Formats: sequence, C-alpha cells, structure tokens
Amino acid sequence: MGNLTVEFFEKTMRNPVMNASGTLGYGKEIESLWGIETLGAYVTKGLSAEPHHGNPTPRVWEERNGMINSIGLQNIGVDRFFDEYFPYFKKRKTPVIVNFFGFTEEEYLACAAKIKPDPFIVALEMNLSCPNIKKGGISFGKEPGAVFEIVKHVKGVTKIPLVAKLTPEVRNIVEIAQAAHEGGADGLTLINTMPAAVVDVKSRNIPIRGGLSGPILKPIALRAVYECSKAVPIPIIGAGGIMNTEDAISFFMAGARAIQIGTATFVDPYAIPKIIRGIGEYLDAHGCSGIGDIVGIARD
Ligand SMILES: Cc1cc2nc3c(=O)[nH]c(=O)nc-3n(C[C@H](O)[C@H](O)[C@H](O)COP(=O)(O)O)c2cc1C
Repeated sequence: MGNLTVEFFEKTMRNPVMNASGTLGYGKEIESLWGIETLGAYVTKGLSAEPHHGNPTPRVWEERNGMINSIGLQNIGVDRFFDEYFPYFKKRKTPVIVNFFGFTEEEYLACAAKIKPDPFIVALEMNLSCPNIKKGGISFGKEPGAVFEIVKHVKGVTKIPLVAKLTPEVRNIVEIAQAAHEGGADGLTLINTMPAAVVDVKSRNIPIRGGLSGPILKPIALRAVYECSKAVPIPIIGAGGIMNTEDAISFFMAGARAIQIGTATFVDPYAIPKIIRGIGEYLDAHGCSGIGDIVGIARD
C-alpha cells in the first residue's frame, strides 16, 4: 500500500488519521480489537488540571443521522493520565495529541503548564467549546477577541505546538480561525460538536442536552475546513461525521491535512482501521504518492 506517512509539527506520523477526543476512552479500551499503533496519533479524552466528575445519565442519545452526548468532560485529571496511561503510548511508539480544557482561563493555563514536552507528544489540542464560568457561561471559543487572548496566554506557558479546536456554534468560524492564528495557534481542529437537545413527547421531559456529532455534522465541518484552510496558513485537522473512506477523502480535498474519527467508532469499532486502509487504497488507485497530492484540491 502507498505511503501514508505525514509530518505534523516536525513529528512523523504513520498516517493522517486520529481518533476524535473523547471517543476512544484512554486508549487501552480498544486493545482487544486493534492495536493503538494503527493510529497516526492518539488524541486523549479532554483532560483538566484537576479530575472532573461528569454529568448524570443519560450521557449519550442516538439521533437520526447522529448522536448527542453529555459526558460532561469527565476525566481523571492530567497528572493521572501522564502517570498511568502515557507510558502505554510511548511503549507502542504511538504519538499523542493531548486534548485539554478549563472552565476559567487559569484552569486552561494550569493544565497546559503541567504538560512537559516529550518526543511522543505531537501537540496540545485546546477545546474552546467550554463555558467560561467567570463570564456567565459563554464559551471561550465564541468571540474572536476572547479566542485571541486565551490562545496567546496558553502559548505563553507551553513550548508544545498548540492546536485550537473550534466550536461550530459561532457567527463566523473564519474570523475565529484567524483570531486563533493571530493568537499563535500552530494548527486548528475543525469542528467540535453542535449544541442540541431532545424532547421526549410522552414524558414531556428533556432527557438530554448536549453535543451533536456524526453524519449530520459533516457538511458543516467540510465548509469550515474549506473556508478556514483558504483563510489561514496553519494545518487543519478535520472532524465531524467521518463514517467511511469517501468522507475522509472529502475532508482532505476540502483542505484538511489530517482527520479525526469519533462517532463512527460507536457504530463500528473497526471504523478507524477500515478507513486508514481505505485511504491507502484510494491513493494507490489514483496514482498518488501521498496524501499531500489531494489536500485542498477541491474547488468551487
Ligand atoms: C462521546 C463523545 C465525547 C467527546 N468528548 C470530547 C472531549 O472530551 N473533548 C473534545 O474536544 N471533544 C469531544 N468530543 C467531540 C469529538 O472529539 C468530535 O469533535 C465530534 O464528535 C465530531 O466528530 P464525529 O462526528 O466524528 O464524532 C466528544 C464527542 C463524543 C461523541
């Protein structure tokens, strides 16, 4: 099969495919099905400076063409992740992208500062969809000015490349991408889930309010990848509703240099290895020497 290797922030990855944060646990959970080293890089579940309890159940809900989750960013905290799980990835020579969050700017800074550079850490991925509890709960990622500030401040406490993961719930995602770039972001992940709710007509309750993911997001994510890749020079990681090889190829053509797969794993736990194989077959069948041959080739 053709060469799937990509360079990301001066690190070599076997392929441009990652799991999406929060959809592959702490990584070990998949080990009875396929090897973690199958991934280009493993993206951690969202980590915080201190451990965080999640939300009550139900935490996931199947929707037509997607799913809603309300996990509530439950995690064991960044220190425990590095003590208990990080050695597993190093042993398997699997690069890691550390997804992290906070509910105040101080929490973001504290978490980023705790993560020490390591040959197996490709980047920090900053989840900007979190509510800022000091600003009435509005997400950090919604205003260009706030994005510029927080990205700039996080860059001040880490030497690891910083990828800003953007929420689609904004007036103009290109403006947000530009603000993140101006603040010093080294890359972008596009996109996180879209806020959504379910109404149970029988009980007249709202059983879940959370983030919508899966196929329903794909066209929104593709547009964000396409428009932002034209507007900023930093690499873009595409995410949102990638369920098969054709979806994956469409993200590369729209301008993504790498992709993340989330909800598909809930439908088929082998989706990631199948899509990696499919991308290799596509490149071979079309005489491509690498993924770079198709990145950003789609035109209006
Ligand atoms: C169960 C679940 C948990 C998630 N947890 C996180 C998280 O901790 N941090 C984060 O940035 N995104 C999180 N996400 C968002 C995904 O990483 C991804 O951006 C989104 O689901 C779109 O991709 P998909 O349609 O392939 O799932 C989560 C998504 C799901 C479904």
